[in-house]
Amino acid sequence: MQCRVNLPAFLFLYLYMKSFASDNYSGVHPEIMEALQRANHAHMGSYGNDVITEGAVNRFKEFFGDDIEVYFVYNGTGANTLGLRALTQSFQAIICSELAHINVDESTAPEQFTGCKLVGIPNQNGKINAQQVSEKIQRLGDPHHPQAKVISISQLTEYATAYSVNEIKALSEVAKKHNMYLHMDGARISNAAVSLNKNFKEFTRDAGVDVLSFGGTKNGMMFGEAVVFFTKEAAAFFQYIRKQGMQLHSKMRFISAQFEALLCNDLWKRNAAHANAMAQKLAAALREIPQVTITQQVDGNGVFAILPKEIIAPLQQEVFFYVWNERMNEVRLMCSFDTSEDEIQRLVKKIKALVSA
Ligand SMILES: Cc1ncc(COP(=O)(O)O)c(C=O)c1O
Repeated sequence: MQCRVNLPAFLFLYLYMKSFASDNYSGVHPEIMEALQRANHAHMGSYGNDVITEGAVNRFKEFFGDDIEVYFVYNGTGANTLGLRALTQSFQAIICSELAHINVDESTAPEQFTGCKLVGIPNQNGKINAQQVSEKIQRLGDPHHPQAKVISISQLTEYATAYSVNEIKALSEVAKKHNMYLHMDGARISNAAVSLNKNFKEFTRDAGVDVLSFGGTKNGMMFGEAVVFFTKEAAAFFQYIRKQGMQLHSKMRFISAQFEALLCNDLWKRNAAHANAMAQKLAAALREIPQVTITQQVDGNGVFAILPKEIIAPLQQEVFFYVWNERMNEVRLMCSFDTSEDEIQRLVKKIKALVSA
């Protein structure tokens, strides 16, 4: 059987159909591709026993300190689910925003692997706060009640907003007070670092985070995320948990090489800064259109906006994006490392044409 790629169709998609659907609709950054090519030589130890993985782990240590544990996994769901698994027992509860990826976009993987109850609480601009969380920590010591053990937050949030250092510290204080852990889903951690103008450590480890899912895929990698433990005792069984959870890559060097490239030469920062800047440009242009209302503060690489209902479907024919909240006609427009100003102008021009038609 001969297999042929339909090249013209591919080129059309590539040249004209970049979308605002998600930062994982983008391809792979060329520097990451080159790193994959460079890693594609010779034979090397498998399952992480190789020099490339050692190098990538050292990069994480440069950012977070020597006394951390880092484990690479395939995807964000795996990083979150297994990180939470390491922190909990099955009679416990994980408190998060009702919008949290772990609560609504990871099927029931967190519940399946941890056995815990996920307690989703209302958010303000994607965030949960210390006061709300404190109110949910009830009946500790009562065997009839799920025992709160983890607070999990997303940075950026699902509304692409960023928690400040003080907001994270306040949540960490609540966690420490009740002998709980603070978990951070950092699928978009680089966008958050750029937005806050802080180094990674300042708003994670130094702010009291115990375990972090460090995202690579949404910021230019092909695949790969890292579970970073700042509280070492929580990592005690993680090598077994990762294997049991089917997230131990045998040709690990190909995740590691990507992280090495992402964390070198500020690629993480260049990519995230570009995506964030594109979101700012898009938001500024949308604010000029009276029929469009931006619903969230634009901290990172996403813009949430209410559009007139009748223009959503025709607009999606031109440039794809997701409707976030059907009831409100609120859409989510995500920018990535390869979003161009031209694409933003094209989108804005199309919106203007549709609202005035
Ligand atoms: C907040 C958040 N966490 C985690 C993930 C990672 O999910 P995946 O398992 O698709 O890599 C995503 C991806 O959409 C996300 O938006």
